[in-house]
Amino acid sequence: MSVRLFEGKAHAQSYWKYRISPSQEIIDMIINFLHKHRSSPQELELAVDVGCGSGQGTVLLAPHFTRVVGTDVSPAQLEMATQHATAHNITYRESPAEQLPLEDASVDLVTAMSAFHWFDHAHFLQEADRVLKPRGCLALLNYTLDMELSYPDADADTLNAICKELFAALTPYRNPYLGATSMDFYKKAYDTITYSIKEWHESMWLKKTVPLSSFIGMIESFSPYQAMLQQHPEKAKHLSHDITHRLMKTMGVSSPDTEVLMSVRYYCMLACKP
Ligand SMILES: C[S@@+](CC[C@H](N)C(=O)[O-])C[C@H]1O[C@@H](n2cnc3c(N)ncnc32)[C@H](O)[C@@H]1O
Ligand SMILES: *[C@@H]1O[C@H](CO)[C@@H](O)[C@H](O)[C@H]1NC(C)=O
Ligand SMILES: *[C@@H]1O[C@H](CO)[C@@H](O)[C@H](O)[C@H]1NC(C)=O
Repeated sequence: MSVRLFEGKAHAQSYWKYRISPSQEIIDMIINFLHKHRSSPQELELAVDVGCGSGQGTVLLAPHFTRVVGTDVSPAQLEMATQHATAHNITYRESPAEQLPLEDASVDLVTAMSAFHWFDHAHFLQEADRVLKPRGCLALLNYTLDMELSYPDADADTLNAICKELFAALTPYRNPYLGATSMDFYKKAYDTITYSIKEWHESMWLKKTVPLSSFIGMIESFSPYQAMLQQHPEKAKHLSHDITHRLMKTMGVSSPDTEVLMSVRYYCMLACKP
C-alpha cells in the first residue's frame, strides 16, 4: 500500500473523503431531544453547526430545519463544504465559535461535531446561550479513537489488539492540549452547564463498512499521524505499512481493498435552554 502524503488541496480532499460523520441514529437522537423539550410542535427554523469543517455533519441537519448555517474559521474547509456538502437551505459562514454571526434568541439547535474541544469553552457556551431560543438545544459530540474492526473469519481480539497498538503509537503525537482524550472537556461542559434539562451519552456506536485501505487512509488523515509523518516520516510510513499488512494477515486476505466493519464510539452532551 502506498502511503499518501497529505498536503494542501490533496489533504483537504482526503479530509473530506475519510472523515466519519455521525450516524443517522445520533442525528435522530439530537432531533428527538429537541422535539421532546419544546413547548409546542412548531417547525424547527434554524440550526447552527459550529466548527462545521467540510460540512459532512451539517448536511445531515438540513432535512430537519428550514435553514441551517455552518460556521468555521477555516476558509479551506468552508470551500470544501460549499463544493461537497450543499443543500438549498444551508449557508456557510466564516466566523469564530466564540462570536457567531446570529441574532440573540434566534436558533433552535446549536451543534459542534468533533470541534468543541478546539473552542474557548466558556466563551462558546456563553455565545451558544445568547443565540439559542428559549427551549433551544445544544449538542456537543465527538468520537473516541479506539475504533474497532471486525471481519467474518478473523479473530476479533487479534484485529483489535493490532488497532490498539496503532492508536498507542499515535498517542504521543496528539496535541498536548488535548491529552490522551478530549472526552473530559465534554464531561466538564456537561457538569458545569446550568441548564437543568441535560443528558450525557457515552456509548453510541457508529458502524460502517469500509475497505481496509480507507480505514488506514482515515487514520493517516488524523492530525496525530500527520504530526508523526512530519517528525519521523520513515517511522510513520513503516507504522501504517506494518499495521496494514498485519491486519490483512489476520483477515487472511491479500488485498487492502477488502471491506471490514468499522465501529466508532461516539459520546454526546445534550442540553436544553430553559
Ligand atoms: C475536526 S474538525 C470537525 C469538522 C466537522 N464538524 C466534522 O464533524 O468532521 C474541527 C473544525 O473546527 C474548526 N475550528 C477550530 N477552532 C474553531 C473556532 N474557534 N471557531 C470555529 N471553528 C473552529 C476547525 O477549523 C475545523 O474545521
Ligand atoms: C432543506 O434541505 C433539505 C435537503 O435538501 C431538505 O430535505 C429539507 O426539506 C429542506 N428544508 C426546507 C424547509 O426546505
Ligand atoms: C475528538 O475529535 C478530534 C477530531 O477533531 C480527535 O482528534 C480527537 O481525538 C477526538 N476524540 C478524543 C477522545 O479526543
